[in-house]
Amino acid sequence: MTRRCFVIGHPIAHSRSPLIHGAWIAEHGLIGSYERIDVAPAALADFVARVREGEFAGGNVTVPHKEAVLPLLDRVSETARTMGAVNTLWLEDGVLCGDNTDAAGFLGHLDATVPGWEKRTVTALLLGAGGAARAVAYALKQRGLARIVLANRSAERAGRLADLLGAPVEAGAWERRDALVAEADLIVNTTSLGMKGQPPLALDLSRLRPGAIVDDIVYVPLRTALLEEAGRRGATTVDGLGMLLHQAMPGFARWFGVTPQVTSVLRELIVADILKH
Ligand code: ATR
Repeated sequence: MTRRCFVIGHPIAHSRSPLIHGAWIAEHGLIGSYERIDVAPAALADFVARVREGEFAGGNVTVPHKEAVLPLLDRVSETARTMGAVNTLWLEDGVLCGDNTDAAGFLGHLDATVPGWEKRTVTALLLGAGGAARAVAYALKQRGLARIVLANRSAERAGRLADLLGAPVEAGAWERRDALVAEADLIVNTTSLGMKGQPPLALDLSRLRPGAIVDDIVYVPLRTALLEEAGRRGATTVDGLGMLLHQAMPGFARWFGVTPQVTSVLRELIVADILKH
């Protein structure tokens, strides 16, 4: 039987998930499909009902449905509940389950790129306080970092996220971000700044600590101005594409019962697609 999987969003044409899952389906010789499906907000509940009835093995959920889908599910992981957002659905004996794999994806890529990074990381500086920041801060807290400082343009939003996650997550002032660089062993850009078509992230790296790690979750372009500058200053740099690839793994494993790998071949496939557009 063909296992059908999906990614739903509105719009959805831009999603690279079909490329990733399609490559894994082919690599493992599976009989299955992974389709992009445009679902308007008003049609979300009907679509979820179709999934519960077994039309699909499961799938991914993206903007604008990540929050709205949560109350429509039968079982939601603790991670997704804390984040208030779901990106992966699957059926388990007729029970419709949801999880958020962004935090695991972030950690999976960081672990693979900089093994042992926690040992050299006391303080992390996160730029941003949106959905991506929530996943990254949650992930870093899980790994037991001593101090996680959020600097966001909207201070109120940073304060709310720090309150939600609790210590060691704290809010710092956006205006103090350059000074905070000097205190950070790990810096993560979770804002949309630096993305193609967006202004660059204005961050002065002149006080970067020796041995610091700079991670940008933006992956178009692959090497953002932030990563270029950090690299020039001798920092270890981590790009955003790996997080996209790693967050896809748990869903695929649930739907097909095979744990896929993030390989350089897969990475090159997505890089080629990014360069094409
Ligand atoms: P996501 O879910 O991808 O994290 P989001 O919730 O829209 O997306 O968050 C975007 C992040 O980029 C926010 O932290 C946002 O800051 P605000 O909370 O102050 O809006 C940040 N961001 C976007 N444009 C920005 C800009 N021009 N200057 C500073 N921060 C910006």
